[in-house]
Amino acid sequence: MPVTASTSSAAQTRGLAAALAELARPGDVLLLIGDLGAGKTAFTQGFGAALGVTELITSPTFTLARVYQGRLEMNHLDVYRLEQLDEVLDLGLQELLDGDSVTLIEWGDIIAPALASDYLEIRIAFGATDDEREITLVPVGNRWSARTRAFTAAIDQWCGPRQGGN
Ligand SMILES: Nc1ncnc2c1ncn2[C@@H]1O[C@H](COP(=O)(O)OP(=O)(O)OP(=O)(O)O)[C@@H](O)[C@H]1O
Ligand SMILES: [Mg+2]
Repeated sequence: MPVTASTSSAAQTRGLAAALAELARPGDVLLLIGDLGAGKTAFTQGFGAALGVTELITSPTFTLARVYQGRLEMNHLDVYRLEQLDEVLDLGLQELLDGDSVTLIEWGDIIAPALASDYLEIRIAFGATDDEREITLVPVGNRWSARTRAFTAAIDQWCGPRQGGN
């Protein structure tokens, strides 16, 4: 079951991501899906901070994959361009995913067909104002479906009733 939350600042999106990071386990994969500037990197920054990453987390667009050290190791990938998908597959995506780290992949919808069937989809859509975002979590596979109750509770404070209709 998808769960939808709303944030009204980058700080809130980082906070939501941090709350989810408390549930992270070795081998987890999160696909970040959303247009340019939606907040995929902002999400990753909050997630990483909660894992204890102290290094500055930047967009991996030109580096493809970055590895950060925290409570868990965090891989941060960006597959915006299709050539990057090929490179990521060449890099040994599977080895990255098979390890004990947590992997967040921006533009993950491109890569989804190449992945095993267990991941959490994070869809970030623009809202009514510049700083509003709708963030929908879609568990794919049993690994995340089994945690639906836990991640729904974790982001509860951002799931209040929508204000202002539609
Ligand atoms: N509610 C919000 N959540 C996330 N970011 C927000 C929000 N409101 C405003 N912003 C701003 O939107 C921008 C999001 O940028 P970010 O780099 O995280 O996007 P992205 O999805 O990673 O983009 P790209 O596709 O270029 O990698 C930042 O400038 C951030 O401050
Ligand atoms: Mg980004």
